[in-house]
Amino acid sequence: MNLKKILEDDLYLALDGQVERKDITINSPKEREMGDYAVPCFNLSKILRKNPNIIAEQIKGKLNNEWYQNIEVINGYLNIFINKIRFTKYIMEKVLKEKEAYGNCDIGKGKIIVIDYSSPNIAKPFGVGHLRSTVIGNALKNICEKNGYKVVGINYLGDFGTQFGKLIYAYKTWGNEEAVRKNPIAELKKLYVQFHEEAALDEKLNDQGRLYFKKLEDGDEECVKLWKWFKEASLLEFQKTYDLLGIKSFDSYDGESFYNDKMGEVLDKLEAKNLLELSEGAYIVRLEDETPALIKRSDGATLYITRDLAAALYRKKHYHFDEALYVVGNEQTLHFNQLKAVLEKMGYDWYEDIHHISFGLILQNGKKMSTRHGKSVELQDLLNEAITLASDYIENRDMTREEKRQASREIGVGAVIFNDLKNYRTNDIEFNLEDILKFEGETGPYIQYTYARINSLLKKQKNMKIDYNSLAINQYLWNIVFRIYNFDEIIIKSKMTYDPSLIAKYLIDLCQDFNRYYANERFITDDEIATGGRLLIAQTVSLVLKEGMRLLGITMPNKM
Ligand code: ARG
Repeated sequence: MNLKKILEDDLYLALDGQVERKDITINSPKEREMGDYAVPCFNLSKILRKNPNIIAEQIKGKLNNEWYQNIEVINGYLNIFINKIRFTKYIMEKVLKEKEAYGNCDIGKGKIIVIDYSSPNIAKPFGVGHLRSTVIGNALKNICEKNGYKVVGINYLGDFGTQFGKLIYAYKTWGNEEAVRKNPIAELKKLYVQFHEEAALDEKLNDQGRLYFKKLEDGDEECVKLWKWFKEASLLEFQKTYDLLGIKSFDSYDGESFYNDKMGEVLDKLEAKNLLELSEGAYIVRLEDETPALIKRSDGATLYITRDLAAALYRKKHYHFDEALYVVGNEQTLHFNQLKAVLEKMGYDWYEDIHHISFGLILQNGKKMSTRHGKSVELQDLLNEAITLASDYIENRDMTREEKRQASREIGVGAVIFNDLKNYRTNDIEFNLEDILKFEGETGPYIQYTYARINSLLKKQKNMKIDYNSLAINQYLWNIVFRIYNFDEIIIKSKMTYDPSLIAKYLIDLCQDFNRYYANERFITDDEIATGGRLLIAQTVSLVLKEGMRLLGITMPNKM
């Protein structure tokens, strides 16, 4: 149901077709003491050449719908008050019946979206840089599904490129099988660093790196075997991080290597369309508004963008997507502009369906986050730190050891995810473990805490009676009801703008609405009916909070 739409229809009818729909304005004031909707009549006054107050009075005389309780005319405005009891009953019954399906919408019915997200690089640590892609991508996946789209989640692993030549050479020269088996990522990283140190002293090592990469590309048995092993070991390590984040699996792990044998087709097509230009021994595609795209290097090696072109063609053909999202940092904006521009030149009109979902950096004290030794921070360490701090906070709670263990994990990880999602994604975000773990303010734990408190309230009362007609609807409660009503609007908007922060902010607002209501009401009294009404409202709020957090990829502890 759409109240605004109902009102618009009624206004249109009341005006007897003397104006067009687009001439009717309906405002939704933030503070609703002056009405739930306000209709300014100044524009209508110009069209109808009548005083706005007179128009407002005339409309008022004709508006007649059980959803309106009261209509006031003030200063050229028509202020509409919704029938609170009737509407509250409608919203609460709907939420309690639909539960987690509340807010589901079908704008995406029959449509397919592929989301390329997370996409860490093999044989390198999973750093905080990939946290944002993982968390934003996962939330967008949930949000698109909530809107009725079919979503394909793709982890486009960085599993190819000259660095593997270097790694294979390093392993064959200095590596130790036992050590790599025990601790793959750390060992491989060590070897990679050693390669670069030695290469700084002896240039010729880089030729070795290229040579081994060429061997790998050509399918040399030993190289392929090592590469596969490195890849599998890395993936197992990454899965530990995904497990911590609560991400089960991706629909596809086709990474860069998957496109190794699919680039010839791209080159052929570019050739056939006369788009390839030879420039200093390399092949480029010239673009109108962007730097030319370098497609093939002078030594014959293909590049990142060439693989992405192959991937885009493959995904279109294979998944028939209506939209393709790439959740990748701001620093790759040029790359995605080039990708789209080349596809456009190739004559694929679906280049417009490709969206680079960019995001900013994670900063610590205003600087790019790094460890004390200046190295990049590993995500697993960071998450574990958050979990440890959360467990300190709930140490003295009346909970079993297992409950505490589970809750610390949900709170610690939830805090990190929420902090990432609460700001508009292209902004850089500041990371301070203590701030993000506070139980009040705009944090994940604040929402979880509100939820857990509602849970404990609900446990106190088993039989909830409700009589909607006797519900005392004050402004606090009315704000909650209207907020809950607006949930689906937020769901649709967050899909349209690819912006999970709208949901994060909405959940903070809903918690604040509820906590204000709670602070101003004696919640549990001897009056069973009044108590039942309040508890059912609390339950409605908790259902929406839980579902909203699920969309962000955050689970809720029952107790904390
Ligand atoms: N592995 C890349 C990186 O870490 C990100 C890949 C993003 N996806 C893509 N289709 N280019 O920079």
